Amino acid sequence: MPNLKTSVAGVELENPTVLASGILGVTSALMLRVAHSDAGAVTTKSIGIEKRNGHENPVIVEVEGGLLNAVGLSTSANAFEELRGAVEKSPVPVIASIWGKTIEEFGEVAAMASECSPALIEVNISCPNVKHFGKVFGSDAKTAAQVTKAVKAETKIPVIVKLTPNVPDIGEIAKAVEAAGADAISAINTLGPGMVIDLKSKKPVLSNKTGGLSGPAIRPVAVRCVWEIYETVEIPIIGIGGVTSGKDAIEMMMAGASAVGIGTGVMYRGIGIFEDVCEEIKTFMLEEGYQNLKEIIGAGH
Ligand SMILES: Cc1cc2nc3c(=O)[nH]c(=O)nc-3n(C[C@H](O)[C@H](O)[C@H](O)COP(=O)(O)O)c2cc1C
Repeated sequence: MPNLKTSVAGVELENPTVLASGILGVTSALMLRVAHSDAGAVTTKSIGIEKRNGHENPVIVEVEGGLLNAVGLSTSANAFEELRGAVEKSPVPVIASIWGKTIEEFGEVAAMASECSPALIEVNISCPNVKHFGKVFGSDAKTAAQVTKAVKAETKIPVIVKLTPNVPDIGEIAKAVEAAGADAISAINTLGPGMVIDLKSKKPVLSNKTGGLSGPAIRPVAVRCVWEIYETVEIPIIGIGGVTSGKDAIEMMMAGASAVGIGTGVMYRGIGIFEDVCEEIKTFMLEEGYQNLKEIIGAGH
């Protein structure tokens, strides 16, 4: 039987599927449902230092091949309790996704999240939907490195830095965060931003006007980003962007991902997507004569 075990920054996963941040990761109950539905790991929605409402509705609109969203980094008042609840009961590693408005604040939120003992901390420097911050940290190599250092100084938990595809050279950012001490990289956050205009009201549909694109439409961009990052750094990569099937996951791993995030795919295939993708990976491995994922990860280079 093919072996689906993998690891990210020393954390062992039973299989490479990971619930991506922002999808079902708001409450511990939902994270536990995903954890019990064969996900290899689950990620919280990005948590900020204090309660924040995010943008007004509508915040999501379906488009061909995916979603456009501008949730606006909402944080519930009990986000840390939900994280703690998930960590205490989850059968699989829990990844705490964090964000901050300043470099120092990233460090503070990392320290607060660490008290809940997640397996990994994911630093979201890549949200395209919040003006004046979000965008800035992930699109400049120097700032991305400063955020990474600020987080590393506040925690002993391995740190994943989540990159944006909306930069001219993602390899340069990857190299900078690796040099600053990142233990892993996840890529990609949403692409864009994009816009949808309602023809009757003649206005952008999203309250924020623009939003980040996710889903199958962005998969080739995600695969290219992961491929470039793998060429540039030694640390492991969680490949995210448009994965909805086992073959998509295999492609992401061939590009260089040690694990594969699934977000929008949950909308298409339901919560059973983690189990289904694992079965499809196994079928592919049996057909092609692969025994374990090491033979696949990075094979596209
Ligand atoms: C509704 C929605 C909310 C999201 N919220 C977050 C978030 O809070 N933090 C984050 O790092 N990424 C967030 N993302 C980005 C996803 O984690 C993922 O990087 C992206 O959607 C691409 O993967 P996918 O095509 O599998 O959805 C969000 C995506 C969607 C669709």
